[in-house]
Amino acid sequence: MAPESPPEFDETFVEALDLLLRWRRDVRRFRPDPLPAGALEALVARAALAPSVGNSQPWRFVRVADPARRAAVKAEFERCNAAALAGQDEERAVRYAKLKLAGLDRAPEHLAVFCDDATTAGHGLGRATMPETLRYSAVGAVFALWLAARARGIGIGWVSILEPAHVAAILDVQRDWSLVAYLCVGWPETDSDTPELERAGWQARDPRAGEILAR
Ligand SMILES: Cc1cc2nc3c(=O)[nH]c(=O)nc-3n(C[C@H](O)[C@H](O)[C@H](O)COP(=O)(O)O)c2cc1C
Repeated sequence: MAPESPPEFDETFVEALDLLLRWRRDVRRFRPDPLPAGALEALVARAALAPSVGNSQPWRFVRVADPARRAAVKAEFERCNAAALAGQDEERAVRYAKLKLAGLDRAPEHLAVFCDDATTAGHGLGRATMPETLRYSAVGAVFALWLAARARGIGIGWVSILEPAHVAAILDVQRDWSLVAYLCVGWPETDSDTPELERAGWQARDPRAGEILAR
């Protein structure tokens, strides 16, 4: 069979990709309507195209639909968020309290992403000196999923204000799986080209963010 010819990514595509990166956004405010059947599976399939150390593909996805487990994750978020608020200095605390830091209440889908720390896939290649690259690989999958979602008009909200071991216990996953991301997935209420934390005055763009140092 003749090899398929590679696609050509023309200027229009490149411009659209730039827009996708610019408008990606972390979403905390969702419309409650469900995603179409198969949409989450399609996103996970795109996530699985991400690069991984040694081609280990250590990402593991858990769709959290059970109301009791969702409620337990939400309670865990509220506990961790209250602790984070208590740790703010006085001036920051007022602003922190006003931030919305999760869309767990309305997102139609909850997707937990774990890294399988015990996988033998990849045979250890590339991670002898940097074992953390296994988890970096799972982060790459999250980002691929995030872009694939936004391209379809679906918003993603990453929730990390959680104790990973508690979430692993709530979801009853394998002992060797570590939580990388807990994602809210659904239709965003609004779109913006500016991060919500920037709009809320919490953190503006850091001038170092796009810098390249020369050595
Ligand atoms: C590793 C990671 C963890 C995050 N955790 C949270 C979180 O717990 N709650 C939240 O509201 N946003 C969370 N975010 C979203 C960031 O706040 C957001 O990416 C950042 O403010 C920039 O906004 P943008 O994603 O819309 O560009 C997280 C993002 C990343 C990459």
